[in-house]
Amino acid sequence: MAEQATATTDAPVRALAWTGDSLHLLDQRRLPAEEAWIRADSAAEVAAAIRDMVVRGAPAIGIAAAYGIALAARRGDDLAAATAALAAARPTAVNLAWALARLQRCVDAGAGPDAIVAEAQAIHAEDVDINRRIGAAGAALLPGAGAVMTHCNTGALATGGHGTALGVVRSAWAADRLDEVWAGETRPWLQGARLTAWELQREGIPVRLFVEGAAAWLMQRGSVQAVIVGADRVAANGDVANKIGTCGLAMLAREHGIPFIVAAPVSTVDVATADGASIPVEQRPADEVLACAGQAIAPAGVAAWNPVFDITPARFVDALVTERGVIRDPGPDAIAGLVDTPAAAP
Ligand code: MRU
Repeated sequence: MAEQATATTDAPVRALAWTGDSLHLLDQRRLPAEEAWIRADSAAEVAAAIRDMVVRGAPAIGIAAAYGIALAARRGDDLAAATAALAAARPTAVNLAWALARLQRCVDAGAGPDAIVAEAQAIHAEDVDINRRIGAAGAALLPGAGAVMTHCNTGALATGGHGTALGVVRSAWAADRLDEVWAGETRPWLQGARLTAWELQREGIPVRLFVEGAAAWLMQRGSVQAVIVGADRVAANGDVANKIGTCGLAMLAREHGIPFIVAAPVSTVDVATADGASIPVEQRPADEVLACAGQAIAPAGVAAWNPVFDITPARFVDALVTERGVIRDPGPDAIAGLVDTPAAAP
C-alpha cells in the first residue's frame, strides 16, 4: 500500500476512489487529525486495508472488496485466491461476502477485466443511490423535530457516500426535520468521536459527543427522540449485528419508550444466517482497549476482551429501514419478503 499526499478540500466526504488502475482509500485510522490517502494496487493490499481498518463500515468494506477483485482481474492474478483473502479480512459485515459473490457471478459468466471493473464501479454507484433512498425513507420516520442518538459511524465514510443511519440524519437535516445529533464516542476505536463528529461538523449538522456511560441519563432526561444505527448483518429472524454497544442502546431505548431504528441496505440482510447467535462476531486485539492513540490507559499485563460487534435481538428493533422502505417490528416473514421483493424502478 502506497501512501498518498494529504489533501484537505471542501469536497463531499468520500472513503474510496477508483482511479482506473488503483483504489485510493482515505486512511480512517488517521482521522480527524489528517486526511491522508492510501493507494492499493492489489487484492492483497485491499484485504490488508480492510483488516487494518483503513477502510471500515459494512458497505464500504464490500465496495473495497469489489475493487480488490477488479485489481486482481486487471493484473491477471488468481481470482480464487484474491476472493479468499478478501473474504477472510473481516468476518461480521456480510456486505463483504455479498460483494464478492456478486463479482463471482460476473466472473462465472465469463466477464473479462473491463467488465469486472465495471461491476465493481456499479456496486459503488448503486450504494450511493441506495443510501439516498434509505435516507428519504428514514427521515420520514423520525419524529420531525428534536434530537437523534447514533452510534459508531454510518456515514459517507462507512459507505459509497451519503451513509445509512447517518444518511437518514443527513436527509432529515436537509428536510428540516432534525435539530441535533447525539453521537456516542464508540469505544474503543472511537468511530463516533473521530469519524461521525468529523463528518457532521463538516456538513454543519449540530452534533454533541457523549461518553457511552451517559446514554441512559441522556434518555432519562428526555433529550433523545429516536436512536438510529446501522448494521453489519441482519439475520433471517431480524436480529441485528452492529458495533459493540448497540444492543445496550436498543434496550435503553425500549425502557424509555424511544424508537430504535436500524438503517441498512438489503445487501446487509443475510437470510442464510438464521439468527443472531449464528453471526460470527469479530474479536480484535486487546491493545485497542488497553491503549488510546498509542498511549497505555491500563496497567501493563492486564487482560482485556474486545468483541467489536454485538447482537441486538429483533424484538428491540422498532423499524428496519432499507432502500425498499420501512419494516416495522421486523421478524422472519417481513425479512423474507424484503429479500424476495424486487427493487423499485429508479
Ligand atoms: O468496525 P467498523 O467501524 O467497521 O463497524 C462499523 C459499524 O458497526 C457500522 O455501524 C456498520 O458497519 C454500518 S456502516 C453503514
